[in-house]
Amino acid sequence: MRAMQIPSDHPLLLRIVDDLAACGWSQQNIFLPEALTLELAAECRKRAAEGELAPAAVGRGPFQEIREGIRGDHIQWLEPGQAEACDTYLGLMDSLRVALNRGLYLGLEDFESHFALYPPGAFYLKHLDRFRDDDRRMVSAVIYLNPGWLPEYGGQLRMYLKGDVEYDVVPTGGRLVVFLSGEVPHEVMPATRDRLSLTGWFRRRGNEPF
Ligand code: OGA
Ligand code: MN
Repeated sequence: MRAMQIPSDHPLLLRIVDDLAACGWSQQNIFLPEALTLELAAECRKRAAEGELAPAAVGRGPFQEIREGIRGDHIQWLEPGQAEACDTYLGLMDSLRVALNRGLYLGLEDFESHFALYPPGAFYLKHLDRFRDDDRRMVSAVIYLNPGWLPEYGGQLRMYLKGDVEYDVVPTGGRLVVFLSGEVPHEVMPATRDRLSLTGWFRRRGNEPF
């Protein structure tokens, strides 16, 4: 996938900004072009096959622990310059960062993201994406990478929205979900096959605790 960019005033990005302002979250069913979704999925599977994905930890800094009873995904943090498809993804997310700053004055300064692979049966219990001792994460963004995912495979992202509303997102390839990291509790339900995603967080500057 050649370097692909979208301007930060692209209608798709403005829609996400409006959704976040109105209700704290947004779902875009066709965010990534299919070719890019396939390339990112292939990159994720390649890294998994090479043993580069590791069990994800819970918590931060010295308090990090692997606890499969809380989350069972395997992850690898992204660095720029490793793969063209990943750099394209990072470029798209940077356009979204600028759009969020323009529309919502969030002061987002950076973006951290990782590939995640949930093997069959793995889950992530209900949680918030903001750490108790570190409130830099403002906006969470998850992009799903399995083309042709069917609801009966499970693996929904279950979001707990205002007014006791539960909303399930089917993790279909190319779909993006964005939400306010400190305000939307959510969980990942177990699936019957490998569930691939790119998950990232837009962060503002803060006092790094460690
Ligand atoms: C996370 C998370 C949601 C998903 O990684 O913190 O909640 O649908 N992921 O993968
Ligand atoms: Mn989360």
